[in-house]
Amino acid sequence: MTEPRTPEVVGSIVDLRERIAQARAAAIAEGGAGRVSLVPTMGALHEGHLSLVARAGELADVVVVSIFVNPLQFGDPTDLDLYPRTLDTDVAKLTPAGVDFVFAPTAREMYPNGASGTTITAGPVGSLLEGASRPGHFDGVLTVVDKLIKISGADVVLFGQKDAQQVFLVQSMVTDLNTPVQIEVVPIVRADNGLALSSRNARLSEAEQDGALALNAALAAASAHYGAAADALAAARAVIEAQPLVKLDYLVVVHPETFLPVDDDYRGPARMLVAALVGGTRLIDNTALGTTDPDFS
Ligand code: PAF
Repeated sequence: MTEPRTPEVVGSIVDLRERIAQARAAAIAEGGAGRVSLVPTMGALHEGHLSLVARAGELADVVVVSIFVNPLQFGDPTDLDLYPRTLDTDVAKLTPAGVDFVFAPTAREMYPNGASGTTITAGPVGSLLEGASRPGHFDGVLTVVDKLIKISGADVVLFGQKDAQQVFLVQSMVTDLNTPVQIEVVPIVRADNGLALSSRNARLSEAEQDGALALNAALAAASAHYGAAADALAAARAVIEAQPLVKLDYLVVVHPETFLPVDDDYRGPARMLVAALVGGTRLIDNTALGTTDPDFS
């Protein structure tokens, strides 16, 4: 069972490595496997993050949560400045969850060479969908994730299925670069009304919150009508077009192995992805199609 404890907040890479090594050794001395799990976050934690942390505690003896607003994955400096920084509240939320360490470095600690340091390139899939509206975003994500894996020495790193393209690219990266780590993907956490949890939901007015339900309703309609990709797309599009507050960015069915759009007549396992502006807030959601376990409610 998870023991509530105040996580130790560590800002330096050297200190984190030392504290993790001690905790790993202590876990082994107590008969555990000494496994370390890492949940990378940018803070502003909600129930979705806490579900990752809960799973991290099941998979390892030592749980590390990183809280770092990664400048490398923001194209727009205003977005970076406006991103919420709520470290004290986040640490308080993690206390009942049994987290050992919160790694909260400065940008200088992570990127001593600033923007001129070595980075990872996400490849062609990194420029599609989310990457199309945020050039360089996934290069920044993969660079920081690779660094966090190396800094923590984690055995398992956890990501939420909500960011499906991020999950695909991280899995591709660890395969392509032979990184010895397990990637664990945790299902999307939804509010009672079906809306996928996101820190951005707080920006929605009451009317926009109702409008945003068109996203998960569209995915549910697609799942119900999945025969060929074209049927699913038509069903989802009809739901979104009926909601005037929602402005569609993309709606696509991708192949799970390539993350590339499938042909209209494709009928196998797939993933539908949607991104839309609701008022001024950009939201994303997704679901598996053609499996018995579609991950939406
Ligand atoms: O999903 C996020 O919050 C970020 O992209 C991540 C994985 C923490 C990297 O900064």
